[in-house]
Amino acid sequence: MNVLLVGSGGREHALAWALKKSRALTQLFIAPGNAGTAQLGQNVSIPATDIFRLRCFAQEQKIDLTIVGPEDPIALGIRDLFEQARLKIVAPCKKVSFLEASKVRAKEFLIKHHIPTARYHSFTDHAAAAAYAKSLSFPMVIKADGLAAGKGVTIAKTFAEADKTLQSYLIEQRFGTSSQNVVIEEFLVGKELSVFVASDGKSWKLLGAAQDYKRLLDGDQGPNTGGMGAISPVPWLTDQMLAEITKRIIEPTFAGLKIEGLIYEGILYFGLIWTNAGPYVIEYNVRFGDPETQVLVPRFGFDLLELFIQIADQKLSEVTATLKPETAVCAVAASKGYPEQYEKGFFIKGLVDKPLSENSLIFHAGTAMQDSKIVTAGGRVLNALGLGKSPSEARQRAYEILEQVHFKGMHFRKDIAL
Ligand code: AMP
Ligand code: GLY
Repeated sequence: MNVLLVGSGGREHALAWALKKSRALTQLFIAPGNAGTAQLGQNVSIPATDIFRLRCFAQEQKIDLTIVGPEDPIALGIRDLFEQARLKIVAPCKKVSFLEASKVRAKEFLIKHHIPTARYHSFTDHAAAAAYAKSLSFPMVIKADGLAAGKGVTIAKTFAEADKTLQSYLIEQRFGTSSQNVVIEEFLVGKELSVFVASDGKSWKLLGAAQDYKRLLDGDQGPNTGGMGAISPVPWLTDQMLAEITKRIIEPTFAGLKIEGLIYEGILYFGLIWTNAGPYVIEYNVRFGDPETQVLVPRFGFDLLELFIQIADQKLSEVTATLKPETAVCAVAASKGYPEQYEKGFFIKGLVDKPLSENSLIFHAGTAMQDSKIVTAGGRVLNALGLGKSPSEARQRAYEILEQVHFKGMHFRKDIAL
């Protein structure tokens, strides 16, 4: 089977690594990929958002299955476009992508289907938003409606901070059309986790859970990022808690989609917070998480390509999605300045061609080849992944990797899985 994987992050390197193990795989193409995916398949220099060129490529290369990593091509309608050409693809359709692409519509969906979520109001007008913010207690959460690469959420501790954010979103249009509309919501206290579900439109299957470390700095300080590390399984999550998440959140979500006449084919990510009153939804994402995928995929006790085929063929009910008992820990090495401005093009020292060991892996994120050397090419650069019998063993292996690699300005959190 010829497979096209769309995306270029650590998530895609992890997916490519697992796809490569499948006996069903003939050729793997990654568009656009990174220096890590280039070691597993053929990188194709088409941006993930150029869905028309991706479709042409899939037709020309007789791609049997396309798998989409990031949200942008999904929100642009890559599934719809591929389906018109009778090309098989694992990605939800544009119509259902609002679950991630519009925080306002996702909130409306949650409330309508009685799925626990923080109380909120949405605004397009700055004066009205500021007046509402003034009437609330702090901290409060302000979210840009549309896609903002994980940077559209601000937790404001004071009115001055809230108003500055509201001005930048609604007046200065910091995220363009994505911040023409904002959600202001209640701050929830609890522990966060990400739950991943596969759906073929007829049935769904729980794939696993992970905990992401979203803040830039140790001790959950600093700005929100795309994710600075992850662990799976989630150490504090019990089977009983997972059963409650299924009953209160996952089942009502799929029931709600059905009521709305929406068919979900792909991976659905539930961003949750476990509060004193049980699980609440913080967000949906219409894809796998990054870096959560890096800690989930090495634990999969099944053939990932087979899973994607079963999703595309609407035969998910025939799959047993087991997880290995090991713990996986991922620590992200980022560029100095991330998640704001950062420089690229620094040589990465200490990377070796061969896999380090069965239990230590490096997944590339923002890397590229330059004059046959691997250099930094993004905010999040490398993912050091350790597997072990315990969180501490896995953690130790992940951090051992980070002692061996280096690039100018390399920054990582030291408290992942502590
Ligand atoms: P989101 O992009 O919606 O996942 O939000 C990014 C991060 O902001 C989340 O991972 C949480 O850490 C935090 N966050 C978002 N909404 C809330 C909320 N209502 N209460 C507390 N923290 C939140
Ligand atoms: N790690 C968060 C995300 O993938 O959105």
